[in-house]
Amino acid sequence: MTHPSSDQRIREHVQRLGEEHPPIELDSVDRFIRDPQTVADRYGHVIDYLARVELEVDRNVLELLVLLPDVSEVDRMFYADVWQPQEIQHGLILDRLQQDLGRPAAEPQLEVSYKMKIMGALAHFSSIQDVARLLYYLTGASTERQAVLAYNVIHAGMEEMAEPAIADTIIAPIRRQEPGHFAFYRMSATELIRSGALRPWQLYLARVLRQKTYNLVGTNGQDRYRAQMGGVVSALGFDADLAKYAREVGRIEAQLLWANEQGMEFPPYVLAALRESIELYRERGFGDIAA
Ligand SMILES: [Fe+2]
Ligand SMILES: [Fe+2]
Repeated sequence: MTHPSSDQRIREHVQRLGEEHPPIELDSVDRFIRDPQTVADRYGHVIDYLARVELEVDRNVLELLVLLPDVSEVDRMFYADVWQPQEIQHGLILDRLQQDLGRPAAEPQLEVSYKMKIMGALAHFSSIQDVARLLYYLTGASTERQAVLAYNVIHAGMEEMAEPAIADTIIAPIRRQEPGHFAFYRMSATELIRSGALRPWQLYLARVLRQKTYNLVGTNGQDRYRAQMGGVVSALGFDADLAKYAREVGRIEAQLLWANEQGMEFPPYVLAALRESIELYRERGFGDIAA
């Protein structure tokens, strides 16, 4: 049972995003960098990481097609007409910035993982596909939130370093497009839960799977990326209060998937993933792309 007015609201949101936020053109960027070395020292690794993750949008679309074989029209409209065209430009713009900073080009992982293919095979059962849909929305909400938080800090940092071209023509326009993505996933997850379409066993399965597979943005389930993400979290200063960051990233999920059980502000696996990333970073640093 879906609620026509909520469905309509999500559809209008997607249409509005498409109209108000055309993909950012490479030519709109002012490539002036006042002090490339200082920018690279402070944010080089962070930009490398974000460029790769944004460019991996093409793999995310393939995963989505695997995971949701009967994708709904609104979901399709979102990923095909709004999300992918916007994110790929974020990736291309950041990838060029990192090269302007004298760093190597990003190497996005574009192979769909084996685990994802298994999940995709199971998703041909419609009851499993509904679980996959919920996980897709929750993953989207969590990762988009992380993007917003990262771009906020980087924007302030670029202003502080007196790099107005990067702040105003790269980070600000990218940052403007992320909250609309977050809102789409939040609205969609909320509606799926609210509609009562998921039976208790499906919600239970969603909780178990989420607990076992939760990943911070861009870590792809691999330790080398987990370590790099630990470095990103540290460079952006989120390590000073990890619980606060976990709350920002996991609030929606605590509400929707866990009904805030026992006063839960964020699912414990979010904080555990953050701690693990930071530990890995302390052990190995950024790894193969370290400057
Ligand atoms: Fe993005
Ligand atoms: Fe996004």
